[in-house]
Amino acid sequence: MKAPIRVAITGAAGQLAYSLIFRVASGEVFGPDQPLYLHLLEITPAMKALGGVAMELDDCAYPLLKGIQTTDQADEAFAGIHWALLVGAKPRSKGMERKDLLLDNGKIFVEQGKALQKADASVRILVVGNPANTNCLIALTHAQSVPPERFAAMTRLDHNRARAQLAARAKVDLSQVTNVTIWGNHSATQYPDFQNAKIGGKAATQAIPDQTWLEGEFISSVQKRGAAIIEARGVSSAASAANAAIDHVKALLTPTAAGDWFSAAVLSDGSYGIPKGIVCGYPLRTDGKRWEIVQGLPVSDFARQKIDASVKELQEEKAVIQGLL
Ligand code: NAD
Ligand code: LMR
Repeated sequence: MKAPIRVAITGAAGQLAYSLIFRVASGEVFGPDQPLYLHLLEITPAMKALGGVAMELDDCAYPLLKGIQTTDQADEAFAGIHWALLVGAKPRSKGMERKDLLLDNGKIFVEQGKALQKADASVRILVVGNPANTNCLIALTHAQSVPPERFAAMTRLDHNRARAQLAARAKVDLSQVTNVTIWGNHSATQYPDFQNAKIGGKAATQAIPDQTWLEGEFISSVQKRGAAIIEARGVSSAASAANAAIDHVKALLTPTAAGDWFSAAVLSDGSYGIPKGIVCGYPLRTDGKRWEIVQGLPVSDFARQKIDASVKELQEEKAVIQGLL
């Protein structure tokens, strides 16, 4: 058995966390030989409900779960942690864009960014709470002792949505769809890149020779999938989002298959002409320890226009929260 790790999950009494916590505790995420402690953070009024979640965790009798700490103090929740899954934030409701949450949710990430300095020196952070890219920028700015490359915002749900759409359209098994990238913001301006995607090892544009669908319905259905789910369920995605968070963590911990990559939003280093200083969706690969941005992918004029529009939105979001940085 390995030494136990400490995993913090915020918004732990919320609906997304309810689909996430039990899968983490079961060993599905960090492995069947990895014991762990859960540090669950909530706001004070939700502590009673969080107590219920903790009772249910006890009742699962998970062999790998060595302890649960519930708290409404970020400093306590993040002390000594190896992973932080930052879910706790308001969700949008019908008719809102995710950036409408910025001023309310941004403040959470100021406090939590500072508290992340209490974490273990190896800590890695995933920001899920919306608007995820800019919240991540706020958190990494305030976590001054944590290297920025330890932070990512989640575009994995969009990545999974894009793969599912491409597989269904090409009538192939999902495993055939690789090399998908979500560029830009986790928002309605994101660019799900079909031009570099592959189906059965060949260009997706060969397997789906329908440019009109690829440039139109495919992109807009991925961009607007979150809103479609809110419209249908009355509340935002939870199980699929938790599943994406799990896929994100596993993708960072597992060497990426040769020639493939995965999507996550990280602090821009200027790659692909994207200005530094925003948290932007990129294609990444890893050896299981350190990730890198995949370089040298062709960017068509069409793609450039789409990426630039999403980058512009990220810069506008940054201008809105300038006072929080
Ligand atoms: P929810 O309202 O069910 O739960 C959010 C929880 O966060 C609540 O229990 C709330 O009390 C808690 N919370 C609020 N402020 C907090 C703080 N400062 N510290 C700790 N906890 C706090 O919402 P949900 O459906 O679980 O969604 C959570 C967030 O995840 C939303 O912002 C939503 O938009 C976002 N989300 C992102 C993606 C993505 O792909 N990036 C996907 C789905 C949902
Ligand atoms: C999603 O993409 O489902 C989430 O970001 C929730 C939302 O507001 O759309």
